[in-house]
Amino acid sequence: MTTLSDRYDPGPQISHAGTINLGTKDLERSLWFFRDILGMEEVERHGDVAYLRAYQELVHHSLVLTQQDENIVNAYSFRTKRPQDVELFYEELQRLEVEAIEVPSGTERGRGTAVRFLLPGGEHPFELYYDIERPEADPSLRSKLPSNSSRRRGLGVRRLDHFNVQTSPESINQAEQWVRDNLGFKRREFAMLPENPSTVMASWMSVTPQVHDLAIVANREEKKGQLHHLAYNLENFSDSLTAADVLRDLDVSFGVGPGKHGIGQAMYLYVHDPGSDHRVELYAGGYLIFEPDHPALEWKPVDFPEGLTWYGDPIDVTPGSRGRDTTGSAGLQHPFLAPTV
Ligand SMILES: [Fe+2]
Repeated sequence: MTTLSDRYDPGPQISHAGTINLGTKDLERSLWFFRDILGMEEVERHGDVAYLRAYQELVHHSLVLTQQDENIVNAYSFRTKRPQDVELFYEELQRLEVEAIEVPSGTERGRGTAVRFLLPGGEHPFELYYDIERPEADPSLRSKLPSNSSRRRGLGVRRLDHFNVQTSPESINQAEQWVRDNLGFKRREFAMLPENPSTVMASWMSVTPQVHDLAIVANREEKKGQLHHLAYNLENFSDSLTAADVLRDLDVSFGVGPGKHGIGQAMYLYVHDPGSDHRVELYAGGYLIFEPDHPALEWKPVDFPEGLTWYGDPIDVTPGSRGRDTTGSAGLQHPFLAPTV
C-alpha cells in the first residue's frame, strides 16, 4: 500500500544547514575553542581533520576543522530531506548548467555522497548530502537524555544554527534569487541598499521555521565568496550572558554583544575562533515562523539600526566607526553595509 507522500512527489528539498568545513591554520587552538570552551564533542580525528558535534546533535558532525594553510571555508553543507534528493539536485544543477561534482561517500567522515557546486553569484562552495551516521558518544560523555548525544558541557552550544555569507553588490541579487528559486529558501526579512533600492543589501532566508538558516549580505569591499560568520545555537539568553562572562576571562577575541537583533529577535554574541579567526556567533532565542504565507518583512533604512541592534552592544555599521550614528542615519550613507545578524 502506498502512502500519501508516495503519490505526491514534492521534488528535492533542503532540510537545514547541516555541516560546515572550516580551514584553520591552528587546528589545536581551534579544537581548544570549539571543544573545550564551547563544549562540543570531538567525534573523530582523521589525520589533520577533526569532526565535532554539539550536545543536541545526534549526527556524526556539524563542524569539520581542517588543518591547512588558509583560514577559508572549504564547504557549506545543507542536508536534503530525502536520500534521492541529492541525485535529483545534481540533475537539476546539470539542467541549469551549473558545474557540479560528486563528492564520494566518506570524503567527510561519517557522511555519504554529496554534490558540490559554487553558488551562482556568490561563489561559495555549497554541498548537498543526505546520508550521515549517528554514532554514540564515548560512554564517558554520554547523557542520560536520549535527545542529547553527549552531556552538556562548556558554554553549551547545542546545534549549528545558520550561515551568514557575503557576496558583491553586483551579484547579490543573483545569488539571493538563486537559493530561493532552486534550493527552496524563503525570504523572511530583508533590506535593500539605500542608494540602490533594486539591489539587496541583506536577506535572511530559511527552509525551516527559523527566520534564517542562511543570510546573504552585500560585501562592502565588493568581494564574493566571503564568510561573515557561522552561528551555533544556545538554549536561552542567560546562556549568552554566561558565555560573555566566561569568554571575557579567556584569550578569545571578542566582537560585539551580548545584544538583541531586531531582525529575527535573537540574542547575539560574536567571538572569533583563535585558531582560524573565523567569526562565530553564539545565537539564542529568536522567533519562529509556521504560517505558509508569512510575508517577507522589509527593513527600511530609517529603521535598520534597530534591526541590527534592538538593544545591547551596537554592531559596527560603517568602516572605522562603531555603533549607531547619533544623527539617526546610522552610517547608511556608506554604500555597502555589512550587517551581522
Ligand atoms: Fe547570524
